[in-house]
Formats: sequence, structure tokens, C-alpha cells
Amino acid sequence: MTLIRIPKSWEIPETETTPEAIFLNRRRFIKTLIGAGIGATILPMDGCSNASESKTPPSANSYSAYSGLAINPAFAKVDRPITDQSLSSKYNNFYEFGGSKSIWKAAQALPTENWQVEVSGLVENPRTYDLDDLQKKFPIEERVYRFRCVEAWAMVVPWVGFPMKLLVKDVEPKSNAKFVRLTSFYDPKITTGPGFWSSMYPWPYTEGLRIEEMTNDLAFFATGIYGHSLPKQHGAPIRAVIPWKYGFKGAKSIVKIEFLEKQPATFWNTIDAHEYDFEANVNPNKPHPRWSQATERMMGNGPSFTWEKRPTLLYNGYAEYVGHLYNI
Ligand code: MTE
Repeated sequence: MTLIRIPKSWEIPETETTPEAIFLNRRRFIKTLIGAGIGATILPMDGCSNASESKTPPSANSYSAYSGLAINPAFAKVDRPITDQSLSSKYNNFYEFGGSKSIWKAAQALPTENWQVEVSGLVENPRTYDLDDLQKKFPIEERVYRFRCVEAWAMVVPWVGFPMKLLVKDVEPKSNAKFVRLTSFYDPKITTGPGFWSSMYPWPYTEGLRIEEMTNDLAFFATGIYGHSLPKQHGAPIRAVIPWKYGFKGAKSIVKIEFLEKQPATFWNTIDAHEYDFEANVNPNKPHPRWSQATERMMGNGPSFTWEKRPTLLYNGYAEYVGHLYNI
């Protein structure tokens, strides 16, 4: 009898993806070295950039469950099963805590108590919300969305939160507000990043949207997932979810929301505008220099971690909701 070893959910193979942080860090570092007149022969090996991850002692996430959660029937299910949370919660991108997908332990260092979100810029009612204010003021609901990373991995998760458009209405943008910038928590004593390389990143992590994108029905602020509060590695206590765009648009652990007249600079676009355009709509027909966008790899369900290859859908399958924003 042949025994087949089934990998545990935390033994997720990363060999199929090129670790984005390592690739970018190396390229930026090469540029810096060359700028400094140092040859590339001293470059470290891949995988050396995660020293920070081991520094943080692991501690368990503690979640609070949402009781009596309203499921929005318009977004109750999609054409594929919900990804098992034992997989999605251990395969993350959160570069403040390391450059690999296995940052869930390091991310437990994120301090989420007394969280506040400042809303400012070109609005009639600038204000700072406590997390509780947000959750009381805006009706909290559950929505099942497809999620697609530009690295071509994909999943389906039930987010809990409220539509961005409700917050927009509450603060009343002025007529000259055309864009919004979302800023993530940053404290270099805590968010140590992928080691040495992190010093070359344009922290804090920021992302941006046009106001019409932010007020689209789909654009969502998530405060929870799988019926409970967000685990830290997913961007507790509040993050952006914009399902028709690549995952990097969804800034985690948001502390500031600014309404602006001009398109803001953003984290990945500043690092490499060619690979991370501001719009970042999921599009199988738009080639990417590193990852083919024609297909995607769905995180597999069950005890065995498998990747299921599927064709990528234009706007991640949400064209009927957002196509008008892009003239289709
Ligand atoms: N937000 C912050 N602050 N830092 C990050 O590194 N990574 C982005 C996005 N939001 C990131 C972030 C990327 S590249 C992706 S694909 C998603 O978060 C991953 O979300 P998940 O780990 O919850 O699946």
C-alpha cells in the first residue's frame, strides 16, 4: 500500500509564487548598491529577508463573534466554494510583518486596542471614529466576495463590515474631492517589515481610489471575516476590500482616510508603477510583467492544500457592477 502524505494546512507551498517582497527588495537593493558604486556580487540569497518574523513571540488571535449578522442576499454566494479559514488565515500578505506568506504569527504584534480612524481632507464633516462608533453607526453585514491577488492566487471569503459609500455620505466630500487615500497603521518599532529590506519601502502602506470607485456598491470596509472580528494577519480591526481590483488595493489596519483633489501616490505604485498601476482592476487581458493574469490559482479546500487553476474573470467577475466606471 502506498501512503500519500497529506500536507497540513499550515504547510502551504510557496514554491509556486515568486515572493513579491524578496523580488522587489532585491531589485531596489541592487539599484541602491549600484547607485552607491557597490557591485551585485554581495547580494544575499532569496529567503534571507524574513529575519523579523522570528522576533515576535506567537500569541493566539482572539476574535469576537458577530451575533445576528445580516447576510446581504445580493452577495450571499459566488460560483465557487468559500475558502477554508485555516488556509486563508495562514497565507497572507502583510509586509509590515514580513515578506513571506507566513506572517500570521508575527502579525499578532499589531496593537488593535482603542483603534481610531481619522477622516480628513476635502470633507464637510472631518472626524475621528472609534471602531465602536463605526460599527454602531453603519449597519454591519456579511458579504461573500471573490478575492484575487496580482500574484495570481485567489480565494473566496465571507467578509463582515459595511459599504464604503455609507462613510462617504457621513463625512460629505466637497465638490473638489476626487480621490481618497487610505493609510495603514505604521510604527517602525512594531511593524518591522521584511528585515533590512523594509527600510527601502515607502511606509506607511497607502492605497487610493477614485471617489466613484469608493461609492460603488461593492467597495467595502471589513471589520470581520467568517462571522467574527478580523484576525490581525487579515488587517484588524478594519481594512478595505475592493473585490474587482487586485488584492493590494485593500489596505489593511486603516488609521486614516483622506479625501483629496489629486490622485495620491501609493505604496506599490511608488515601488514599481509598471507592475502596480493605480487602477489595478483584475483583467485577464492585460499582461503583467511577472504573473500571467489569464488564469488564477484558487486556494484549495479541505485538509490537503491544493491550487485549482481557473480562468481569470474580467473585473474578477464583477463587471456588471463596475463596468460603467470604465466605459464598458
Ligand atoms: N495592507 C497592508 N497594510 N500591508 C500589506 O502588505 N498587502 C496587500 C493587501 N493589503 C498589504 C495590505 C496585498 S498585496 C494583498 S494580496 C492583500 O492585502 C492580502 O490580504 P490577506 O492577507 O488578508 O489575504
